Amino acid sequence: MESTYKSGQNPQIYILYASETGNCEQISQDFFETFSKDYPNAKRFVLNDHQTQKNGQSAFDLQSKDALKVCIFLTSSTGDGDSPDNGEIFHKFLRKQTNHLEEGQHSTALSHVFYTVLGLGDSNYSKFQGAPRFLDSKLKQLGAQTFYDRAEADEATSLELVVEPWLEGLNDSINSIIRKIKKFDQEYIDQLLTPIDVNEHQAQVDGHDDENESIKTPLMTYGNIIGGKITPCSPDRELLEIEFKTDKPVSRDLIDVGSAFSFLPQNSEETINYVIEKFKWDRNALIGNDTVYDLLQKSVDIVSEKLKLSKVLTDYDLQFLPEEAKESKHITLKDFSEYTVKFDQIPFSILEDDVPKIKERYYSIINDPFYDEKEKQVVETSHTFKICFGLHKFSVRGQNRFGLATSFMKDILVNQEFSRKIKMHFSHSNRIIYFPHKEYVQELKPLIFICHGTGITPFISILERIKNIYESHERFGDLIMLFGVRSDTENFLFREQLLDIFTKLKLKSDYSQLYLASSQSLSEETYNGLVIKRKGHVQSFFEDQSVRDRIKNYLLEKEGYLMICGNKSTLGQSVIKGLNEKFDELFSHSQLDKLKQSGNLLLELWDD
Ligand SMILES: Cc1cc2nc3c(=O)[nH]c(=O)nc-3n(C[C@H](O)[C@H](O)[C@H](O)COP(=O)(O)O)c2cc1C
Repeated sequence: MESTYKSGQNPQIYILYASETGNCEQISQDFFETFSKDYPNAKRFVLNDHQTQKNGQSAFDLQSKDALKVCIFLTSSTGDGDSPDNGEIFHKFLRKQTNHLEEGQHSTALSHVFYTVLGLGDSNYSKFQGAPRFLDSKLKQLGAQTFYDRAEADEATSLELVVEPWLEGLNDSINSIIRKIKKFDQEYIDQLLTPIDVNEHQAQVDGHDDENESIKTPLMTYGNIIGGKITPCSPDRELLEIEFKTDKPVSRDLIDVGSAFSFLPQNSEETINYVIEKFKWDRNALIGNDTVYDLLQKSVDIVSEKLKLSKVLTDYDLQFLPEEAKESKHITLKDFSEYTVKFDQIPFSILEDDVPKIKERYYSIINDPFYDEKEKQVVETSHTFKICFGLHKFSVRGQNRFGLATSFMKDILVNQEFSRKIKMHFSHSNRIIYFPHKEYVQELKPLIFICHGTGITPFISILERIKNIYESHERFGDLIMLFGVRSDTENFLFREQLLDIFTKLKLKSDYSQLYLASSQSLSEETYNGLVIKRKGHVQSFFEDQSVRDRIKNYLLEKEGYLMICGNKSTLGQSVIKGLNEKFDELFSHSQLDKLKQSGNLLLELWDD
């Protein structure tokens, strides 16, 4: 079949991104804004729009051989080297297209595609650049051709270090590939655009058993906060526990003890009204299908994400702003609205383009959602998920120190607004820490948990599961937990629960022990001999020969699991350093990498 695409014609150009926490989304958006001035036909899509319909038209379809296509992919990784949720459908498409191919075998399915990839990642994760590398290798296998080298940006050093030079070189490379494509002769174009034998290909694709993948399709559902409690823990901090109930049942394939879900917080009524009043906006005015009020409530972040002031300054005449404001470069919409003069000049359209969107917030669960108390067994679906977080009790210098998500949840709880609908998201890719049930309960492989502060949460839900199945098992593997707190009298979170489960575990395992490191003060409390205490940080337990011997034995001989959860810089790096330095080189970086690859070292570390 002769194609209608003619030599000399411009290719279709797509900027395609997948992003979990917004970085790739933002970079692709910024790039697209300038790029589309030179190439007005270029289009930008999120990867999951592949082969979907938008306003009655196909959004983008790389499989369709209707034209030559230039694609700029920007993607991060999440979970364990997985694609962000909003790229998962495209990844599935790539898997389907390639699973009938042997290793090293290629097809021509995407021979009409010319592409490059920018990968964002973090080398602290074992599958560094998992998703971009997967994307690159599958595109190649399907015959797509690279026109500019893939770049690997690393958050552990600095994303900008790689992103900026890559973006600088990108324009020239696009210009040059377009020039090249326009010079292709018709015969070559026809060859690239010849459809592959669909029947033969489809037969192979259909033969693939897709069952396991479909179970793990991420779930977006709405839910409500149905209750919770506030417990003071220190003079200035309190602990909030919040219980969510989802509208749809959530499968245990998507979340289980140890893992997290995310939800979209909303701005408070008070903040929305404040901003509307300051800017003199009409709350019912429409932007697309949403009113200004809707956008302010559910879409744009008023209090925690910052907008780029320089952009607003050049787009609108904001010379009246005081110097101190201009110097701040980035500012939240709320802070921006504090400068009270001449705000009638600022149109509400900034909500669409300039104000950052609300980002999803991830929380590990602290309950065992899948244990059915009546049936006394673990079931496959659940509606109720509990989380917890610490909060400063008081405002500091008149400023509310709460983040958007935490104040959102606290307000709902305090004002009992339990009917408010919240968008929630469950994905298998949030399963970093998990409970290796068979290995721990049947094979008695040991578990080592290391955490501090609220990093304890994934372990609390795992311990809940162990408590729930306790009666039905004679023996358990050894379980040791090294828990770091600031003060054991004030910040010993989940104290009663921990003492209870460790009392039980000691009866049914050879050696299970709770180790408590208190960094600022250590009380005289003995906890009935149940807790081994120490002043210092968690890794100071590595000074203790018996702790070192256990960790060595559990990991190197008994194939146990080490799970670490907490802040990357204050916990993660120090614990890894301790493992490197205090164990006679048994846990060098390469040894730890091996443990990560075999799944025996699980790291859930977050930035400040
Ligand atoms: C829960 C979680 C899991 C992650 N897993 C990986 C990973 O397996 N490999 C990797 O290279 N980076 C991983 N990262 C790092 C992200 O890819 C990195 O932060 C990136 O800048 C995020 O970009 P985004 O905001 O566009 O999603 C992970 C980050 C988080 C929060």
